[in-house]
Amino acid sequence: MTRSIIIDTDPGQDDALAILLALASPELDVRGITCVAGNVPLALTSRNARIACELAGRPDIAVYAGATGPLERPLVTAEYVHGKTGLDGYDLPEPTMPLAEGKAVDFIVDTVMEAEPGSMTLCALGPLTNLGLALRQAPGISARLREIVLMGGGLFEGGNTTPAAEFNIFVDPEAAELVMHCGAPVVMIPLDLTHQTLTSDAIIEDFRAMPNATGPATAGLLDFFERFDVEKYGSQGGPLHDPNVIAYLLQPDLYGGRLINVEIETDSSLTRGMTVADWWRVTDRPANVLYLREVDVNGYWALLKDRLSRLP
Ligand code: BDR
Ligand code: CA
Repeated sequence: MTRSIIIDTDPGQDDALAILLALASPELDVRGITCVAGNVPLALTSRNARIACELAGRPDIAVYAGATGPLERPLVTAEYVHGKTGLDGYDLPEPTMPLAEGKAVDFIVDTVMEAEPGSMTLCALGPLTNLGLALRQAPGISARLREIVLMGGGLFEGGNTTPAAEFNIFVDPEAAELVMHCGAPVVMIPLDLTHQTLTSDAIIEDFRAMPNATGPATAGLLDFFERFDVEKYGSQGGPLHDPNVIAYLLQPDLYGGRLINVEIETDSSLTRGMTVADWWRVTDRPANVLYLREVDVNGYWALLKDRLSRLP
């Protein structure tokens, strides 16, 4: 049976590869893609999501434009990581498919409310603004969700945007707080995990050698994406964050973690956006998150290569 998902995203090279992975996977029924401002402004994230759909040969996917900025704060973007367009690194054609009509948040709410209870999964790859807005508009969606799987936060690795905060949570901590406490099962994929899924020259060359259009495009995007992180961390490659969300749905046996309490710091100017994760269970605060920390790195890359090789 296929699993129904909505992808909420701010592409971003790694978001785009997550979209490709989902669209290449027959186990997943991508009901729609909702875009949010994050890595780059909304006009670009909603363009880039459509570029990814067209690269996958799926111009039929409904792509919605969502929030232009966080719930209560000015937008912070990350062109310094992803380039001016968010998809720097490989020349892909401007999309010809139009944006879907209607509001992203209405689409999320209506799709969840109309679906079989417990059947819809929300995959969140960017700041959680659209999900926060949907939860504010219709708190009843939480009880009907199968789960929310999100890339964000970190504990052992610290932050990548401030010493304490990871980008997606830093940009919209108020939305993250709503999501963490919405009552739906939440699976969190933090930097502690994604910093293990590093690119390498060999991996990138495997993509470049694929006899389809997607492989070389992936290699180009990864070439660009990893430059910044390799310099920053002194690592062999860049951490490919967002496809982990999709890979977890496809092959949960590649991942391990613990059910713990996670709170979001929204007040402090020093640690705003920090995910205060009680990994050692030193408080009696109730568990609200499945916090993934382990990943079979080779299995992840094998899955990604296998699936992306099936695309046009
Ligand atoms: C997250 O922030 C963005 O730069 C990436 O797309 C990923 O979702 C990593 O901190
Ligand atoms: Ca992202």
